Amino acid sequence: DDYELGGHTDFMRKEMTEQPEAIARALRGRLDERFATAHLGGLGLDPMALRAIKRVKFLGCGSAYYAGQMGAALVEELARVPADAEPASEYRYRNPVVDPDALYVAVSQSGETIDTLAAVQELRRKGGRVIGAVNVVGSAIARECGSGVFLHAGPEVSVASTKALTNMTVSFAMLALLLGRVRDLSAAAGTRVVTGLRALPGQVERVLADDAEIARIAKRYAHARHMFFLGRVRGWPVAREGAQKLKEISYIHAEAYQSAELKHGPLALVDAEMPSVVIVPADDLVAKNIGTIEQVKARGGPVIAVTNADLPDGLADEVIRVPRGEPELDPILLTIPLQLLAYHTATALGRDIDKPRNLAKSVTVE
Ligand code: AGP
Repeated sequence: DDYELGGHTDFMRKEMTEQPEAIARALRGRLDERFATAHLGGLGLDPMALRAIKRVKFLGCGSAYYAGQMGAALVEELARVPADAEPASEYRYRNPVVDPDALYVAVSQSGETIDTLAAVQELRRKGGRVIGAVNVVGSAIARECGSGVFLHAGPEVSVASTKALTNMTVSFAMLALLLGRVRDLSAAAGTRVVTGLRALPGQVERVLADDAEIARIAKRYAHARHMFFLGRVRGWPVAREGAQKLKEISYIHAEAYQSAELKHGPLALVDAEMPSVVIVPADDLVAKNIGTIEQVKARGGPVIAVTNADLPDGLADEVIRVPRGEPELDPILLTIPLQLLAYHTATALGRDIDKPRNLAKSVTVE
């Protein structure tokens, strides 16, 4: 209750603004420049145990699941260990094969989400090794897991998760770095990731400073009844999270698609009334993503590109730029403007930002 708005109009705004310091807190004492690795003492896993992990699976609900998807990509890219993410709700209701050589990561801001807790309990019953990636210390999931990585995002009140989600992905980058450095990841590559992580708070600050421009874009498209969010590979979980945030607080119908899936059906929906937000990380797939934008434009669809790549002038109707960092960390930076886009769209529509209809901050009942 002593957690105040501190001059902000609502908690979502406050929590978005707090992201640079929240990231810095998550990194504090955990990055090791000398050995180009991360220290996550709460995992309770020594280098031999870390090396024995054959695959990693992230389990969470909603945005925590999308963060898990970003985490899985980081683990595969940096550690070359097979990794995936699954909604904890699905996991608990099917009869999963529990792999004794896998590391399971239960992802939750609140640590109280019933579906994630049930997945952890099922895993433990079947001998799975599960750690938590949890924000609230002492929460049910943190206690049930007994080990893991705390997110250190600070209290999060707004139903729409922002800083906790960011710190999930930052924590997974450190986990991936650690798993990589006890395997094949070179010291030089590890140093690159450490440097990239250290740069994040300042870079996020720069994205947040683009607030007025993103508010202008949000107002321009706030009348839309439907929106697409498109991305491929690193951009795909970003697109999913962007659509989720917009739905949650603006009530605009938003759907995320892998860009290449567009032509297998959803392209039929594109017209002048259907804006698409296209995520374009500065990676090997820029040309493909330019192709996606052209496909949408050719059908008269407005395009908002969110990118740290160099795009041809006039390609998209609007371009939101984020700083360029280490490519593996792009999903973190590319997600921030989508929070602002959802926020300003919801504000333009007069929505109750912190308490969207039909939703609770943590879902503790089935
Ligand atoms: C995020 O904006 C949502 N409110 C929601 O998807 C949330 O991430 C999900 O319910 C999981 O919550 P948790 O992280 O507290 O487990």
